Amino acid sequence: MNNMKVQHMNGHSKAMEVQQILHMNEGTGETSYAKNSASQSKIISMAKPIIEKAILGLYFTTFPEAIQVADLGCSSGPNTLLVVSEILNVIDERCHQLGRSPPEFQLFLNDLPGNDFNTVFRSLPAFHEKMKKDKGDKYKPCFIAGVPGSFYGRLFPRKSLHFVHSSSSLHWLSQVPPGLNEAVNKGKIYISKTSPAAVQEAYLAQFQRDFSLFLKSRSEELVPNGRIVFTVLGRTTADPSSEESCILWDLLAQSLTELVSEGLFEEEKLNSFNAPYYAPSSEEIVSEIVKDGCFSIDCLEVIALDWSGGVSNMDYYCNKLPSSTSQFLHMAKAIRAVAESMLQNHFGQQVMDPLFQRFGELLGSTCRRVQHINFVVSLVKKQP
Ligand SMILES: C[S@@+](CC[C@H](N)C(=O)[O-])C[C@H]1O[C@@H](n2cnc3c(N)ncnc32)[C@H](O)[C@@H]1O
Repeated sequence: MNNMKVQHMNGHSKAMEVQQILHMNEGTGETSYAKNSASQSKIISMAKPIIEKAILGLYFTTFPEAIQVADLGCSSGPNTLLVVSEILNVIDERCHQLGRSPPEFQLFLNDLPGNDFNTVFRSLPAFHEKMKKDKGDKYKPCFIAGVPGSFYGRLFPRKSLHFVHSSSSLHWLSQVPPGLNEAVNKGKIYISKTSPAAVQEAYLAQFQRDFSLFLKSRSEELVPNGRIVFTVLGRTTADPSSEESCILWDLLAQSLTELVSEGLFEEEKLNSFNAPYYAPSSEEIVSEIVKDGCFSIDCLEVIALDWSGGVSNMDYYCNKLPSSTSQFLHMAKAIRAVAESMLQNHFGQQVMDPLFQRFGELLGSTCRRVQHINFVVSLVKKQP
């Protein structure tokens, strides 16, 4: 009994840790997420037809006077208001075609408390101005609020939301899976080919706990017929140690190992770090949705991007690349904007420049045929 209590407490404090530490690089400077999120923007644009179909499907079955929309894991930067403005535009356009008065919108922007909400809030006056200018007399006010908190739990009152969107966020776990102590995943920071089976099992179990809690929370918050559309990094193979889902973490671990051999920090430091991240297969996603039972799956599609994240038509055979180094340093910056908060908290600020310099070089010299796999999933909440 006591042991169980201790385990639960440890799990809880690890989850608190991730909530407090994880954030994308803030502001609008060179290393910010705002400046390094072009591949996530590409994913949003590739998912756009599915988002549009879902929001129109919702509106034309329920005709609410006001639509409540939540964007979960909104971060800060050009992508933050991208999906919500697409949603506003598509409903407005269709209502005008049909001669209907468009609904009012309440938009909730959610992320962890460490997110740079200040930058988001400062961008809102310009967003409202642009909307007014684009829509002229057709402009209807929309009401935007920030909601700090973890989407692995309740964020909104029961039956208060019509539409939930989340892009490129659900691969972050609520915590590093419990049980991965220093001896278990030596020299690695995520699942890899050399990790013992216990590592894969711990990661899958954490994903299942988190994703089922996400679904349960949303099923309580959504109205009947409410919708969720999300994109998530994943893998097309059953094997969680396949290169397509592990290679970037493997190369980061390799960069860290080189820094250990240069004496920048001790090996134990590397052995005690594991990423709070999981790239699920479509079967693993579907299995949790079926277990939860509250949603039907409208569609699940794969978005495969090349090594550049789909932003520069880069062939994913890297040895065919003309100016590989600068492009790979660019990719290293994109990964840095996403993973730096976790890595810096553990390894220290002074390690970040050499780490990402090394990582960029390794990316450039690694010749593999790998794509980044994302899933876009559209769900409809079943009638009670
Ligand atoms: C890569 S960013 C994606 C941002 C934006 N949606 C986009 O597509 O560009 C992932 C975001 O998810 C947020 N996030 C991760 N875990 C979260 C959680 N449990 N609750 C809320 N937000 C979370 C991170 O803080 C981060 O801002």
